[in-house]
Amino acid sequence: MTTNNLSGKNIVIIGGTAGIGLATAVAASELGANVWAAGRTQAHIDKAKELSAGSFEVRQADTHNADDLHAIFKEAGTIDHLVSAAIGGERTLKPFVEQTEDEFKAAYGKLWGYAKVVREGVSYVKENGSITLVSGSPARKITPNTSALSCVGGSVENMVRCLAVELAPIRVNVVSPGTIDTAMFDHLGDEKEERLRAMTSGHLIKRGGTAGEVAEGLIFAMNNNFVTGTTVDVDGGRILS
Ligand SMILES: NC(=O)c1ccc[n+]([C@@H]2O[C@H](COP(=O)([O-])OP(=O)(O)OC[C@H]3O[C@@H](n4cnc5c(N)ncnc54)[C@H](OP(=O)(O)O)[C@@H]3O)[C@@H](O)[C@H]2O)c1
Repeated sequence: MTTNNLSGKNIVIIGGTAGIGLATAVAASELGANVWAAGRTQAHIDKAKELSAGSFEVRQADTHNADDLHAIFKEAGTIDHLVSAAIGGERTLKPFVEQTEDEFKAAYGKLWGYAKVVREGVSYVKENGSITLVSGSPARKITPNTSALSCVGGSVENMVRCLAVELAPIRVNVVSPGTIDTAMFDHLGDEKEERLRAMTSGHLIKRGGTAGEVAEGLIFAMNNNFVTGTTVDVDGGRILS
């Protein structure tokens, strides 16, 4: 039988105004948690507020801005579960030798953002609480042109294992999505559906995942009090295909 440990808990989600973070905010608030979801742009904030209809709080924050983060952490007071799903860096997609050093480094904005969320937020997190980050299947599924994303994702997963050891008994986990139909691919415009179909045609489950399916992985990592230092793959079998 599944126990809902999230009712009445304070959950802060940086990168919670769209996609996987927003779906996690919705799922957690449906389970009775008090949720603060944050992102940078007004467009995402407005959409998230509309979806929340007051069931969770939506705030402005950039993962690279400590003042933004502290404003939310202080409002929450104490945090049971701290999540970051904020992209926070460039999605550098190029052969390694064609990347400039700056392009390679720009992908690491994601890691620095996660590191800042943890460093600034950990003192607010309860001893029996958790921190959950989001990596991505390129960390362990190697394909051409994804070296920057792969290195960053691998670093996020290793940072999580280090933090699980150093921050115990606070639990620290990472969820690794495969190819997921979110705003991250909105730049593809009308081609988005077709491109997602092509990207996933060789996967064990031949479709893009939904943000809600990945949110279930994040809910698991928060809800299960015996899981720490773990990578939860929600990827339609991508790393095996
Ligand atoms: N979708 C996929 O196929 C996929 C695959 C592998 C891994 N992932 C990872 O999953 C995580 C969530 O991605 P998603 O697909 O849900 O993307 P998304 O739909 O674009 O949502 C990203 C969220 O993060 C926020 N965000 C981005 N940069 C931020 C920053 N610097 N500070 C604060 N918030 C920021 C966005 O809001 P604003 O832009 O308004 O700030 C938005 O709320 C990311 O770490 C991504 O790398 C996704």
